[in-house]
Amino acid sequence: METYISVKEALQKKAGNVSLRGWVYRIRTQKSNVFIMLRDESGIIQLVAWKDKLSEKDFKTAQSLGIEASILVSGALRKEERSPQGYEIDIDSLELVGSSDNYPISKDFSEEFLLDVRHLWLRSMKMNAILKIRSTVIGAIHEYFRKEGFYEYQSPILQSVQCEGGSTLFNVDYFGEKGVFLAQTWQLYAEPAIFSLGKIYTVAPSFRAEKSKTSRHLTEYWHAEMEGAWIDFEMLQDYAEGLIKFVIGRVLENNQEELHVLKRDKRKLETAISKQFVRMSYTDALNKLKTKAEMDVEWGKDLRTIEEDKLSMLYDTFIIVTRYPKSVKAFYMKEDPKDQRVVLGFDCIGPEGYGEIIGASERESDLGKIKQRLIEQGEDPRQYEFYLDTRRYGSVPHSGFGMGVERLIAYITGVDNIKDTIPFPRTINRYKP
Ligand code: 4AD
Ligand code: MG
Repeated sequence: METYISVKEALQKKAGNVSLRGWVYRIRTQKSNVFIMLRDESGIIQLVAWKDKLSEKDFKTAQSLGIEASILVSGALRKEERSPQGYEIDIDSLELVGSSDNYPISKDFSEEFLLDVRHLWLRSMKMNAILKIRSTVIGAIHEYFRKEGFYEYQSPILQSVQCEGGSTLFNVDYFGEKGVFLAQTWQLYAEPAIFSLGKIYTVAPSFRAEKSKTSRHLTEYWHAEMEGAWIDFEMLQDYAEGLIKFVIGRVLENNQEELHVLKRDKRKLETAISKQFVRMSYTDALNKLKTKAEMDVEWGKDLRTIEEDKLSMLYDTFIIVTRYPKSVKAFYMKEDPKDQRVVLGFDCIGPEGYGEIIGASERESDLGKIKQRLIEQGEDPRQYEFYLDTRRYGSVPHSGFGMGVERLIAYITGVDNIKDTIPFPRTINRYKP
């Protein structure tokens, strides 16, 4: 039995005979030899098939390889200054495993075409790097919350209530029943569980029927959410900051190569996590926008993308904007005891114009106020009885937040569009393949 090693291991080995398996990334055929760039999950290395070193059959096979054909090869490593990796392999045997004729992705492609052939584009160096970082990010979220003593908990995806506004709800045909929706958030089903588990978290898909085309909205995205009994508004901000710093720190530890492939300036990430996140109230944010960015926002209006972006350009780290006007925030956010016009909620805004990465709040504990705000938003409080019970039986101060996993990955990887941070993006215009 052959022992196969990865491209990365081969490059570390530097000399001797090796067996590799992977896919043809590029190929250049000449009279006396064939140059094959071999790709696997770990990297790329150049192979040289010499006519006078291979059997006639193997050389023919080498000449006929298509882009993305899968192959098994054996050969000897050789130092090669001219190769970008520093080493090449002179192969002495080659076996075709899966042929690949007329691979559809060639040089000139449009963004839309690459989304049509997303199942193949996943093999690209760019997607390979992003997906590796994505794996680190998701692993680090679990690691962070578990280290902080949170239990992992699952809420249903099929839900009978809205939480983040009716306009972005996906209706499901549930055996002809109306009033069944895909989860916008785990929150209303998570709050009941803190009475059992204390501090909980999840990483799960959320769904939003976003009708606009933007570079930061998906209709299906991964949502890292936490909820905890006895956690107050200040502690909540510390958890948000702690989580983001921990995750980015893990990426900086594990994904230098990938950041390099993506041409992401890692110093920007290092700077962002090397200091305290900026914390300011919504009212302060309006003042900053006015004095530093010549933007006038009327008190009471939500911050839109352009305002968030302008604000983010004033700093080189994350900004936690607290105490938004009650009227622009969800029904469950706690009214500030010191100022009834605002809520104890915050948005954490990413640097460099990556927008809102976390939405958070301490939860309203006053049953009457919750009902009142549901009614104001056109909701029937009777649908929320199960949720309202959390305020009837041993209610405790508690808080939670949700982080858009793709939003954070977009910032970390520096991509222009959130679509590239998820394997198969879903947007208003796209649900295929
Ligand atoms: O601010 P949101 O709507 O908050 C909630 O859903 C709360 N219930 C969370 C909680 O307290 N448990 O969403 C949270 C985050 C946003 O800050 C954003 O990063 C991300 O989810 N997000 C989206 N990401 C991609 N595409 C979309 N359409 C998104 N909508 C929200
Ligand atoms: Mg929000």
